[in-house]
Amino acid sequence: RLLKVKIAIVGTGYVGLVSAVCFAEKGSRVICVDNNEEKIKQLNKGIMPIYENDLEDMLNKNKCSKRLEFTTDLEYAVQKSDIIIIAVGTPMLPNGHADLSQVESVTENIAKFMNEYKIIVNKSTVPVGTQKKVIKLIRDNQINEYDFDVVSNPEFLREGTAIYDTMHGDRIVIGTDNERARKIMTKLYANFNQSIILTSPENAEMIKYAANAFLATKISFINEIANICEIVGADVQEIAKIIGMDKRISPEFLSAGIGFGGACFPKDTKALIKFTEGFGYDFKIVKSVIEVNENQKTKPIEKLTNALSCVKGRTIGILGLAFKPNTDDTRESPAITIINDIQKLGGKIKAYDPIVKDIDKIKFDNIEYVDTAYDAVKDVDAVILVTEWDEFKQLDLKKVIKLMKGNIFIDGRNIYKYTKMFKLGYEYYCIGKKDSQYYKKSR
Ligand code: UDX
Repeated sequence: RLLKVKIAIVGTGYVGLVSAVCFAEKGSRVICVDNNEEKIKQLNKGIMPIYENDLEDMLNKNKCSKRLEFTTDLEYAVQKSDIIIIAVGTPMLPNGHADLSQVESVTENIAKFMNEYKIIVNKSTVPVGTQKKVIKLIRDNQINEYDFDVVSNPEFLREGTAIYDTMHGDRIVIGTDNERARKIMTKLYANFNQSIILTSPENAEMIKYAANAFLATKISFINEIANICEIVGADVQEIAKIIGMDKRISPEFLSAGIGFGGACFPKDTKALIKFTEGFGYDFKIVKSVIEVNENQKTKPIEKLTNALSCVKGRTIGILGLAFKPNTDDTRESPAITIINDIQKLGGKIKAYDPIVKDIDKIKFDNIEYVDTAYDAVKDVDAVILVTEWDEFKQLDLKKVIKLMKGNIFIDGRNIYKYTKMFKLGYEYYCIGKKDSQYYKKSR
């Protein structure tokens, strides 16, 4: 059964594209708008601007069945739609605040093009109070005084599993004080078969920041436990598994590693601090979460410099550039810190990632980018595993050590067993466990 709602989605980034495809899949007609002509041209040809599981197939299927179209014409999209979803970027300004300029300019244009009652939905991550600002901006910019409502509807999708997360989320949050908007939004999401939480706009905006900050806190917390485990000879994976058996803690998001990256956690935690500082609040926990995360990204270098007396002139193989598996996103990836630090120490880099192929996305000078994981380890003095791609879990580790010049292997994501690595002859370092040096000494 097709819902006859027409939706315009402004912004064809991760959130916009994935939402568009999912609404279309659930039967709505969706018009995607972006002011980037090249992107729209490519999307009309079925070429994806991002790598995301299932996106291409679902997008092309819904495009063929005419439930999905792409345009640069915002006026057309606004006038043809009942619901207009804002899904543009809110990148971080140099001062840490969220940059709302795209949200604002899109809102002004929506206001100008309105031709009847519309619901304007904000999906972009924005500071609390933005819904009220959007209402004011629309009022100030409308040519005719059409009725409208503004709803805050944050998303919780993860890159790499974005379609799955949208279709099978834990909850759908709809923030509005208005009964008419509440009814239309509830109907829009009715066949997503997820808990629909109706709340105030301020709550909805705060929920997004609170959720991301809490998840980031879990990661920094377990990373600190990992650092302590290394000192006292305990095993962080075992600790995480067992504390996670307590339902109040849960085993999710307790993988120690080399810190979080990506488009959300680093930006949203900083924006939360800045936004709360604006009214004089000192958000101490989140500040520490960021500090711990920055420090965690330097762990592989600490281990490398301990293992190699001198990095200068040595070649280091980097496995993985994306901030996490199943994405081609390198934004705030720990790989950036690691590569920069090695280069500063005078080391050379050979790097491989299964999906990050576009050298422009990596934005590094003087790195040798190779086509396979085995090429990345060939003749290198040490290997640093940055991203826990499945492909790396299946590597022939006997072959790897034969190809390497040295035997130092720094596993930033704890994907191998140190006993096995030690038997194979590696000097193996991981996160939050007895590493091979310790293992050797304690035997
Ligand atoms: C995150 C949130 O999960 C999502 O709900 C929100 O909408 C956007 O931000 P995303 O950034 O795509 O999603 O990825 P996620 O899977 O959450 O991982 C974020 C980072 O945390 C990655 O760098 C990952 O490596 C790291 N991480 C995650 C850990 O280091 N340990 C963990 O246990 C989990």
